[in-house]
Amino acid sequence: MSNKRRLIVVAIAFLLLVSAFLGGCSSSSKQTSNSSEQTSEKKQLAVGIVLPTKDEPRWIQDETRFQDALKNTPYSAEILFSQGDPAKEKANVETLLSKGIKVLILCPHDANAAAASAEAAKKAGVKVISYDRLILNTDAVDYYVTFDSVQVGKEQGQYLVDHATGKGNPLYLYAGALSDNNSFLFFQGAWEVLQPKIADGTFVIANSDKAVALKDKKDLTRDEMASIIGQITTNWDFNTAKNLAQANLAKAPKNLKGNVFILAPNDGTARSIADTFKADPDIKSYVITGQDAEKPSIQYIIDGKQSMTVFKDVRILVKDAINAALTYLDGKTPEATKTYNNGVKDVPSKPSPVQVVDKNNVKQVLIDSGYYQESDFTWPK
Ligand code: BGC
Repeated sequence: MSNKRRLIVVAIAFLLLVSAFLGGCSSSSKQTSNSSEQTSEKKQLAVGIVLPTKDEPRWIQDETRFQDALKNTPYSAEILFSQGDPAKEKANVETLLSKGIKVLILCPHDANAAAASAEAAKKAGVKVISYDRLILNTDAVDYYVTFDSVQVGKEQGQYLVDHATGKGNPLYLYAGALSDNNSFLFFQGAWEVLQPKIADGTFVIANSDKAVALKDKKDLTRDEMASIIGQITTNWDFNTAKNLAQANLAKAPKNLKGNVFILAPNDGTARSIADTFKADPDIKSYVITGQDAEKPSIQYIIDGKQSMTVFKDVRILVKDAINAALTYLDGKTPEATKTYNNGVKDVPSKPSPVQVVDKNNVKQVLIDSGYYQESDFTWPK
């Protein structure tokens, strides 16, 4: 064989080898894409979850617990945050609807504004689960997953009552956002317990003349509650809470300082209100409530800077939400034990219990149960 011929044979052999190699690759890539199609069929996006904000540890807890719980379902889900903006919330819902979700789990920033999103979902044949906060004034809500929010308020009120002795104890009232139906439920529960103790002189309201004017009325109408909440709202915002507490303290006479009692609606606002009260030289001691068992507040409780929190085990709420979604995906209706009226409809629900945590049981309830790790906190030596 001439050199030229040998070169041609080697070149042909090389080309054959390359084409055999490429052929092998493309068939294996077909296999891969087939199997990933199967996976995506199995893990089809079925559930869309929209949470109110990443700025509060409470909703990060929910995100984490959703991610943990979703690992064990045959469906995939996407979680989007609205950052306290109803327009972003609506856009999030539209994005999820366009991706073909079958169930929407929505925790509304603004209960009334969210009705439009629920209606868009209903129109698309998507089941709507209101998560933690009730969507108001629409019949497009199928189910409500919640804790017993009136009980949350009762526990907060009861804690203050249990720690007060004698008469004339200054009581500072704070509430959540008017746009959140829960703010009304929490306040309703707290008022039920506090009102008789305000009426009998155990407490003296220090920062709301609207509440003073209604002090002899146990069952308040929604409008009456709105008038009080409007005066004492934190808007679920740390800075608003701090500014309001500062303004209240600046106005308060000395006889409404000393040893005081503070109804703070949740942990985030409790920490900023507590810090503000602590900084006032005329405040000798305070008892302050909270809710959510947020990690920073658990540290505050251990350090004696926040008196209590109401633990709402987010794992239960997430489990209830996912179970309800799976039930709908199965063509069935989730179990209900109670209804909540949203202004238009009695929405079926199965509220979960809550638990008071203070320095006496914090270890047992939150660490021994595995909810948090002991190493998440600094403990007294
Ligand atoms: C939730 C609370 C939360 C608050 C502020 C309420 O609707 O139930 O757990 O602290 O919103 O985000």
